[in-house]
Amino acid sequence: MATKTALVAGARGVIGGNLIEHLDRAGDWKIIGLSRRGGASQGSIRHLAVDLLDREDTAVKLSSLTGVTHIFYAAYQDRTSWAELVPPNVAMLTNVIDAIEPVAPHLEHISLMQGYKVYGAHLGAFSTPAREDDPPHMPPEFNVDQQQFLQRRKVNAKWSWSALRPSVVAGIGLGNPMNLAMVIAVYASISKELGVPFRFPGKPGAYTSLIEMTDSGLLAEATVWAATNPDSRNQAFNITNGDMFRWSSMWPKIAAFFDLDVAPPLQMSLSDVMADKSDIWDAMVAKHALTKTPYSDVSSWQFGDFVFAWDYDVIADTSKSRRFGFHTYVDSEAMFLKIFQNLRDQRMIP
Ligand SMILES: NC(=O)c1ccc[n+]([C@@H]2O[C@H](COP(=O)([O-])OP(=O)(O)OC[C@H]3O[C@@H](n4cnc5c(N)ncnc54)[C@H](OP(=O)(O)O)[C@@H]3O)[C@@H](O)[C@H]2O)c1
Repeated sequence: MATKTALVAGARGVIGGNLIEHLDRAGDWKIIGLSRRGGASQGSIRHLAVDLLDREDTAVKLSSLTGVTHIFYAAYQDRTSWAELVPPNVAMLTNVIDAIEPVAPHLEHISLMQGYKVYGAHLGAFSTPAREDDPPHMPPEFNVDQQQFLQRRKVNAKWSWSALRPSVVAGIGLGNPMNLAMVIAVYASISKELGVPFRFPGKPGAYTSLIEMTDSGLLAEATVWAATNPDSRNQAFNITNGDMFRWSSMWPKIAAFFDLDVAPPLQMSLSDVMADKSDIWDAMVAKHALTKTPYSDVSSWQFGDFVFAWDYDVIADTSKSRRFGFHTYVDSEAMFLKIFQNLRDQRMIP
């Protein structure tokens, strides 16, 4: 029986969507998902279409959500510069809290989804393994501004907050600007279709740097753990699979799954070389009887270029979450292969 009500902002995202599935499986949550697209409500899940950038629209549509006990904030607005990311992403969070706080007297917790940008991972080689209490870096950085906003609001509030800092998140989701597993799956499938070997397209140093991943299911579990574990109140946690790897060792394993030969890396911009592959994709959809998915929805080439340019270690220390009691572990190779197999089973890739 539902005893808690979760409001998930960013319900159609790779993170929010997987979180909703996790909450639904747990069985004791009523779930309300927020996104502009909305979705079909079923069982304990209700989708609400709302533009969180529109303060009025948000206030009106959220005014009846008096039973919300937990807000899980994972909405995201993409922009082309770090500075431009700040205003819309802070505004959306502010609009949700401003709408819910006055109407939901039993609000217990606000969970904020962050990432390694807090540590400056997007700017260049940063101090690794990054720890939650590392010193801040030069703004602008929207995750930091969002956390500061929550901390200011918390001063006179009964609710607690937590912040989750995943590495690159791997999961299934369509139409997302940040989805590495889809980038790799579609890049590999098109390589195979064209009869070319599987080449790592990133910077030379990125092939041999250390990296780690965060499985979307593990992240969902950690997010709910941090939101409901009394000791985790008002804390930030790095959340990763628990292992690390170099693309130089992972690439051949992914190639084997797709039955592809590996050739030496060749630095190329995926945004450029994959831009003209829409017709090939459409032909593959017809030839292999795939689920009809527009090329723009399966690919996030810009994000692939971003991640594959990290010619420095991208590693965070996860001992804090373990000390506080979160012990789930995922093997990153097994995770990739499981996601690819799921995509195949769903006829999203050949
Ligand atoms: N993906 C990763 O690898 C990764 C890694 C580390 C950290 N993070 C962080 O995690 C957070 C979530 O990322 P994500 O990858 O899950 O994002 P995402 O896949 O792009 O999802 C964003 C969600 O926000 C919703 N949204 C966007 N604008 C909206 C608006 N104006 N009103 C209502 N809903 C809106 C989108 O739905 P609609 O488009 O239907 O509105 C979607 O549901 C971000 O802060 C990101 O930086 C992500």
